Amino acid sequence: MKENKNNPSNIVWHHSNITKQDRQKLHGHKSLMLWFTGLSGSGKSTIANALQHELFKAGVSVYLLDGDNLRHGINRNLTFSEEDRKENVRRTAEVGKLFVDAGIVVLAALISPYEEDRKQARSLFEPGEFIEVYVKCSLQECEKRDPKGLYKKARNGEIPQFTGISQPYEEPKSPEIIVDTTTMSVEKCVQKIKSFIEKKLSLGEKS
Ligand code: ADX
Repeated sequence: MKENKNNPSNIVWHHSNITKQDRQKLHGHKSLMLWFTGLSGSGKSTIANALQHELFKAGVSVYLLDGDNLRHGINRNLTFSEEDRKENVRRTAEVGKLFVDAGIVVLAALISPYEEDRKQARSLFEPGEFIEVYVKCSLQECEKRDPKGLYKKARNGEIPQFTGISQPYEEPKSPEIIVDTTTMSVEKCVQKIKSFIEKKLSLGEKS
């Protein structure tokens, strides 16, 4: 993590008189962070987009933070080095935390290849609020799909530090949900995630 160079004793936390619970009541549901992790081409963005659409149609206040898109803005200064990927995850988790505080269901779709970084992201949230969704797909299959032609470029040495080729992807050890996109359709994956979170979204549910 990048060090905080400010002296924390000079910075005071201001409490809001509107709580997260107040905001959740306004939206009519709990807020959550659904963290999608998986190889490039595994289907994270596709599934997260489809889920976002389903939830939106059902009246849920939902917002997708997509890794590729964030790298056009807030994360545009980050490379694909191990350190920058860590920072990418950290920033996205912090932004997601603000959204969750605002009462919104957040879907974050990032490769997020390191277990430690995902664990760090999880630690920002309350118990039960962070749901790790492992979008499982073999490297062989992702490479076969190669929707953006990036695996081919990585194999040719045109893209350094490419996940699965020249950098590792650490499989989640205990994700809340696994969707295997080699065997399941997008609709099936969406339904699996939706039924997992349905109860959690209810304001009557503890966590
Ligand atoms: S992460 O590892 O830092 O979480 P992130 O999800 O933001 O990655 O971005 C991954 C996307 O960037 C991929 O889907 C792919 O389109 C693109 N990309 C470009 N270069 C690389 C690279 N070296 N490794 C992985 N993805 C890359």
